[in-house]
Amino acid sequence: MVKLVRLGEEHLESTRRWLTASPRLREQIDCLAAPSSAENEAYWRSKWADKAREDYAIIDGDVVHVGNCGLSDIDPKRQKAQLWIYVVERQGRGLGSRAVQLLLARAFDDLKLERVYLRVLITNPRAHAFYRRLGFVDEGCLRHDSVTNDKFVDAFLLSILSDKFRLISRRRWVSDPVRMICEIIHRNGSRKAQPAERLQGPEAERFTKII
Ligand SMILES: CC(C)(COP(=O)(O)OP(=O)(O)OC[C@H]1O[C@@H](n2cnc3c(N)ncnc32)[C@H](O)[C@@H]1OP(=O)(O)O)[C@@H](O)C(=O)NCCC(=O)NCCS
Repeated sequence: MVKLVRLGEEHLESTRRWLTASPRLREQIDCLAAPSSAENEAYWRSKWADKAREDYAIIDGDVVHVGNCGLSDIDPKRQKAQLWIYVVERQGRGLGSRAVQLLLARAFDDLKLERVYLRVLITNPRAHAFYRRLGFVDEGCLRHDSVTNDKFVDAFLLSILSDKFRLISRRRWVSDPVRMICEIIHRNGSRKAQPAERLQGPEAERFTKII
């Protein structure tokens, strides 16, 4: 089960450790230098004071902090925001996909946004493929958008609009009978039919992941 919890003091040390340990991660997320503890703390304090953003720790299985993500530049009037994410622990197990789906649900369902966009460096083709698989589409190339190893690097600009998100969510819902049954039961509020109690093995596991 993946949860997003507001990024707080308790997540700063692992965040700093990840950025310090991996020049590759810093390159992928366009972080130009490894932060000291003080710099990391000051950075996040300034971000938390910014009302136009929501930053989350990605938590797997209730306790394991595997990465961070969020929405920045939230503009309620223009109904748009920028999305960012990195998963450091347990990569390639679907946690990043689930975290992006949760962020998009937050953006489109709760905040009623119309557009969520992001930029990904052209030197990060796997993340580019990851976003495209989740429904983001290419909008163009930002030339010399950043600097890596003293060289300018271009970035792709991608976005997803609310109608596409709703279409994908509906398809996912319909194509997943276990989820569909569970949600119907959940909406009807039937205590007797709590699916996690009735399903066994992989099905129960799948339900737990979905909620
Ligand atoms: C991109 C990222 C968030 C994906 O998270 P994740 O939990 O590994 O994603 P999922 O398990 O849901 O999906 C993995 C898929 O994404 C792709 N992918 C993207 N980046 C990957 C990476 N660094 N390692 C492995 N797979 C990656 C793979 O093609 C994989 O496809 P598959 O399911 O066909 O095997 C994560 O790999 C990451 O944080 N990478 C480093 C930081 C980064 O690039 N952030 C984005 C900056 S714009």
